[in-house]
Amino acid sequence: SRSIDLAVIPGDGIGQEVVAQGLKVLNAVLPQDVKLETKEYDLGAQRWHRTGDTLPDAELEALKNHDAILLGAIGDPSVPSGVLERGLLLKLRFAFDHFINLRPSKLFPNTATPLAGRPDIDFVVVREGTEGPYTGNGGSLRTGTPAEVATEVSLNTAYGVERVVRDAFERAAARPRKKLTLVHKNNVLVYAGHLWKNTFDKVAAEYPQVSTDYLHVDAATIFFVTQPERFDVIVTDNLFGDILTDLAAAVSGGIGLAASGNINPTGAFPSMFEPVHGSAPDIAGQGKADPTATVLSVALLLRHLGYEAEATRIEDAVSADLAERDGGAARTTDEIGDALAVRVAS
Ligand code: IPM
Ligand code: MN
Repeated sequence: SRSIDLAVIPGDGIGQEVVAQGLKVLNAVLPQDVKLETKEYDLGAQRWHRTGDTLPDAELEALKNHDAILLGAIGDPSVPSGVLERGLLLKLRFAFDHFINLRPSKLFPNTATPLAGRPDIDFVVVREGTEGPYTGNGGSLRTGTPAEVATEVSLNTAYGVERVVRDAFERAAARPRKKLTLVHKNNVLVYAGHLWKNTFDKVAAEYPQVSTDYLHVDAATIFFVTQPERFDVIVTDNLFGDILTDLAAAVSGGIGLAASGNINPTGAFPSMFEPVHGSAPDIAGQGKADPTATVLSVALLLRHLGYEAEATRIEDAVSADLAERDGGAARTTDEIGDALAVRVAS
């Protein structure tokens, strides 16, 4: 019989609340014969305050044995900036070689977006997840003096660029519109830009059925707002992808709906699914957080594990739920989770 062995890292702030709803919907959507096992990991700000640990080796090892990881949110104002980001979240992405950071954007019905009423938005950003300026490759001289010098080096390897570009071509080829846009800034970042563009053009020759396009990242931000329907699949580096996907969330229904998957398509390590939003300490513990982004991340998780029908059921439930949101009294985190659980079960 089938089974899913899931690691759960609720993390900080609203992470706890939204993950509970994600699990509620997961339980509701899975067929009877699928055995779901979950193990919760206590990682994040509280753990760091208590023990000084961000992600000890023993837990990193234990996490490796799960089929997938569901993560809520990491970060708290009481922890110095960067400690949990680098010591926990990025450590997981790097250790498990999550080179695909998959961030779909769909214009769901009835959502507050500057683009409401525009043609359908349905694109996916394939953000590189293990290289670029995220590798911690930099340094500082004369730190804290008026003569301080800082470098932050973007690392791009032929291996790393080619594998994400190939994955993006595969995804584009599998979609109806079959269009892939490379986003970079090769008029200024000429070395990395050359590697990306050259690799893109080389792989493109193997996918004649995919139409291709190139945009500088600054121009891409304009089109995200003025012409989002021109995008189908976008492939880009780690930092450009970080920024573009927040913008994508804002124009396509808000950060409360944006889901993501940190994927290692080889299966060598578990992939990790998380809402794009952060821990929102300002609203934590009040039942105000929208769990929809986490629920949609659960859909990505299910699709990754081969449960396509269940993934689609969740996405359809979210569409239907949003279509019926009437702008009346705001529902609590729990109420939204309950409504989605009822929909996917029926
Ligand atoms: C995200 C976040 C992270 C990133 C931070 C918290 C390290 O912004 O998942 O988009 O920059 O990747
Ligand atoms: Mn981000």
